[in-house]
Amino acid sequence: MSYKEKLDLQRIPQHIAIIMDGNGRWAQAKGLSRSMGHQQGVETVYNITEAASNLGVKYLTLYAFSTENWNRPQSEVDALMTLILTHLKENLYMKNNVRLRLIGDIERLPDYVQKTINDCVEHTAKNTGLTQVIALSYSSRWELTKAMKDMAEEVKSGALNPESIDEKTVTEHLNTRFMPDPDLLIRTGGELRISNYLLWQCAYSELYFTPEYWPDFNAESLYKAIYDYQQRERRFGKTGEQVRTEQEG
Ligand code: FPP
Repeated sequence: MSYKEKLDLQRIPQHIAIIMDGNGRWAQAKGLSRSMGHQQGVETVYNITEAASNLGVKYLTLYAFSTENWNRPQSEVDALMTLILTHLKENLYMKNNVRLRLIGDIERLPDYVQKTINDCVEHTAKNTGLTQVIALSYSSRWELTKAMKDMAEEVKSGALNPESIDEKTVTEHLNTRFMPDPDLLIRTGGELRISNYLLWQCAYSELYFTPEYWPDFNAESLYKAIYDYQQRERRFGKTGEQVRTEQEG
């Protein structure tokens, strides 16, 4: 029986964030170049976006390139950029009513990459289905540092009163201000860490780690992760009894 049939369709997470790890090892194990692993990884992006969209997931945030990934060999960086651009030009978005948004230090990207991204973001802005958020040249510490700088500037200019700063103020200064916090964070590839990804936003997210390499992750793997999520009790710091009483009421 597929995990899909076991899912409670009333409790599909509205936001799933993914650390897509293991492309390199997948390729290596097959005697292929790392770029081939990333290429296969794009296929998985396509399949998982479609599967999530069909389930009614509202936001899918994919860690495609971290601030630290700029330190990889230039040939790998170039290959990744080319793949991402090719993906943006495919018809995934219009065919599935998917909207594209980006988070990250976009200004560090080459001009031609920025232009293609902006065109795709504009072109899909009216799509009303799933929003696919690509984290590109992104890291949480970069994002939080920038938010702190921006808030400091606003305090300096008198636009922001330090006394009024609360969690909502910080949230509104983040790149991710347009989306809810992830309900579920999935990491493929077997590592058990968050790698500077959505640290503020994942404060109460359920974490799911799988040894599967990203190119091997498929729709069934996604259903299994969501099924696992649905077996958990999210307490947000409250007691189990409080949560159950609230659910009954
Ligand atoms: C981690 O695998 C993966 C990346 C650094 C890049 C992820 C990018 C893609 C899947 C392609 C483009 C994405 C989109 C949204 C179109 P790794 O290379 O670190 O693998 P390893 O740990 O096995 O070496």
